Amino acid sequence: MNGKRVLVGVTGGIAAYKSVELVRLLRRAGAEVQVVVTRAATEFITPMTLQAISGRVVRQQLFDPVNEAAMGHIELARWADLVLVAPASADFMARLAAGMADDLLTTLSLATEAPLVLAPAMNRAMWRNPATRENVARLIRRGIRMWGPAVGDQACGEQGPGRMLEPAQLIDQVQRLLAGGLFSDVQLLITAGPTREAIDPVRFLSNRSSGKMGYALARSFAAQGALVTLVSGPVSLQEPPGINCVQVETALQMRAAVMERVAACNIFVACAAVADYRPLEVMARKIKKQAQRLRIELIRNPDILAEVAAMDVAPFTLGFAAETERPVEQAEQKRISKGVDAIAANLVAAAEGGFERDENALTLLWEGGRKQLPMMEKGLLADELVKQMAEIYAKKG
Ligand code: PMT
Repeated sequence: MNGKRVLVGVTGGIAAYKSVELVRLLRRAGAEVQVVVTRAATEFITPMTLQAISGRVVRQQLFDPVNEAAMGHIELARWADLVLVAPASADFMARLAAGMADDLLTTLSLATEAPLVLAPAMNRAMWRNPATRENVARLIRRGIRMWGPAVGDQACGEQGPGRMLEPAQLIDQVQRLLAGGLFSDVQLLITAGPTREAIDPVRFLSNRSSGKMGYALARSFAAQGALVTLVSGPVSLQEPPGINCVQVETALQMRAAVMERVAACNIFVACAAVADYRPLEVMARKIKKQAQRLRIELIRNPDILAEVAAMDVAPFTLGFAAETERPVEQAEQKRISKGVDAIAANLVAAAEGGFERDENALTLLWEGGRKQLPMMEKGLLADELVKQMAEIYAKKG
């Protein structure tokens, strides 16, 4: 980050204490840092602390007779290579979404042409409130990047989405963004692996997905700068470094993990082999070997991909189609019926790639286009798919 100019905005929230560490790490990485605080931020942290860590006078006033004589807010907006607001409170996001310019930070956020990134931090109910959801969707539509929030313990004693990303995670993202890459400005959510649907405490229904394809894709997108969250069913693979991993078991858990995070993402990739059905009833005790025949009644699981694609403000969606015959024809039908932007068809008969194997072949289909990716190792295939996706995603705008 040598010589890069990062403007750190701090708004009012308990996570403001983490901004000190953020500024310290940015400076250690070689960046020049200018801190701008809102009035509410000063209730949580003093400008003097941030000044000492950043090495620059902290700015707060829009109507500052010293700096505003020379249009200081415009100068700040032009000065920055990146504007990072961390923490970004619900109030700040609402004002930004409404296009307000009622303090220095909102004004320079409107005036800057540098990438603008928000690291939201708030109570989980505030994050889930429809007003916040709408504001987040509007900001993302305008090209403002949203990093986080993370899910976990909150200062108010509750649990859920709303924690600010840790300073080290933010630094990692800043480095990716400033370094460039096909997806450096993208937040991506991907599912991988199988799901397990319990029959009784020791048995489950599942499938042969190893997670190799989904994990390889997560790595390739991250290598191109995307901020990747991977929601994974049970697999025996190592969690890839630099990727936010969420482990789940069932289709319902996978759905919940996706729905909790999808509003903040630009691209959703559904590579998981989600069980289409689950046992209607899960036995409390192990089923005994008595009857000659046993019936297990199944009920449909929700279709996560179709649900995401049907959202009012849907991210760009890439689905997979695992077929044992006529893959392209059937994948095209799935693409249209699920309303997804693109779909990758693979043949999953035993002799082909698909499940478990280290190699795979895909046909990528999108409206008005098709690209054949021949049989190759899944890591290489993922790199090819990501390159192709960059073109389709850019065209969609
Ligand atoms: O994990 P590997 O061993 O490396 O194998 C890779 C793979 C074969 C699993 C992968 O390449 C693949 O094809 N994944 C999708 C498997 C699948 O479930 O396909 P489908 O045709 O049944 O589903 C179509 C799409 O809807 C998929 O994107 C799937 O994630 C999604 N879906 C399906 C059902 C459901 N309830 N929710 C979903 O989101």
